Amino acid sequence: MQPATMWTENQSLLPYNTFGIDVRCARFAEYDSETRLRAILDALRRDHPGESVLCVGAGSNLLFTRDYPGTVLHSNITRWAADVRDDGTAYVIAGSGWVWDEFVDFCVRNGWYGLENLSYIPGTVGASAVQNIGAYGAEAEQFIERVAAIELATGETRVFTHDELRYAYRQSAFKQELRGRYAVTTVTFRLSTTFRPATGYGSLGREIAARGLEGKLTPQALRQLIIDIRRAKLPEPTELGNGGSFFVNPVISREAFALLQADYPAAPHYDVEGGVKVPAGWLIEQCGWKGRRLGPAGVYERQALVLVNHGGATGADIVALSDAVRDTVRAKFGIEIQPEVNFI
Ligand code: EPU
Repeated sequence: MQPATMWTENQSLLPYNTFGIDVRCARFAEYDSETRLRAILDALRRDHPGESVLCVGAGSNLLFTRDYPGTVLHSNITRWAADVRDDGTAYVIAGSGWVWDEFVDFCVRNGWYGLENLSYIPGTVGASAVQNIGAYGAEAEQFIERVAAIELATGETRVFTHDELRYAYRQSAFKQELRGRYAVTTVTFRLSTTFRPATGYGSLGREIAARGLEGKLTPQALRQLIIDIRRAKLPEPTELGNGGSFFVNPVISREAFALLQADYPAAPHYDVEGGVKVPAGWLIEQCGWKGRRLGPAGVYERQALVLVNHGGATGADIVALSDAVRDTVRAKFGIEIQPEVNFI
């Protein structure tokens, strides 16, 4: 195949990042199979050796700060297969290119449960395994059994077990030592034909009670509840550019938290291994940033953890706001908050 049919050149990445940043990449290639991906990688090695490659799903966790000088790869692999065992375990293999929430919906409709609390998270199946997406007391890694990926440098397939990927809060080996080296092709999830709702997360129990759903929660009702909560709190990327939580919630020592609590007795917090997790959104709100703007970039008015593009913002505008927010939180609380979004 000729390179001309393998990729497009100088393509806008506007449809491939939810922040709505208008940058371009030198080349853009899509694949719907492993064979096609290998052919693209072979052609790139031949025609553009040594040039950088970036895998992008829905671009919901990326901030482009400049034009990308290499090739952006985008998965359209959407095939699936399921193996439902007699013990009620459903192993579902899904292509990396599936829109995440369409996959969650598909699983719930088929009676394969577990992913309900992760409903409506923007992004793709492939990204869920890289980023270990999480919400409302659930994380993708609880359900991930295996991840198949192709090594960009060699075209070889490798299947990673859950444990090899060393998952943690918004972390995986794909973001550490394997960073930039693999394109995820399929993810195998371990789900259940029995619905066991996870309703322990903070506000979730209250929302269930408020809707009179206690004791009669169905998978569809839980999924709809999560969708409603997210819609109420988080901006739709199609209406207001954003990358979801811009920062990860910091974990501070118990001693540091005791000092914070002395000044702010109502400070929300969660005990975790190694310390206390404090919601970054709360810290940012306490600093007076909620709803404020810096040029075309802003802190979302209903959830201070989310930075938004009010229109025409560049990556640099968002970074300037992120730096200003981090400086204020450091000055007021002595706490360092780190971006969750990847700067490219
Ligand atoms: N809070 C404030 N002000 C704010 C935002 C939050 O005071 O502006 C307080 C809330 O009142 C609450 C606490 O902070 O007491 C936690 O808020 P929330 O339940 O909204 O969750 P979060 O910690 O801010 C995390 C995830 C979200 C996920 C929610 C729900 C991270 C970085 N973010 O946010 O994930 O949807 O929990 O589970 O852990 C994402 O990753 O893109 C994302 C949206």
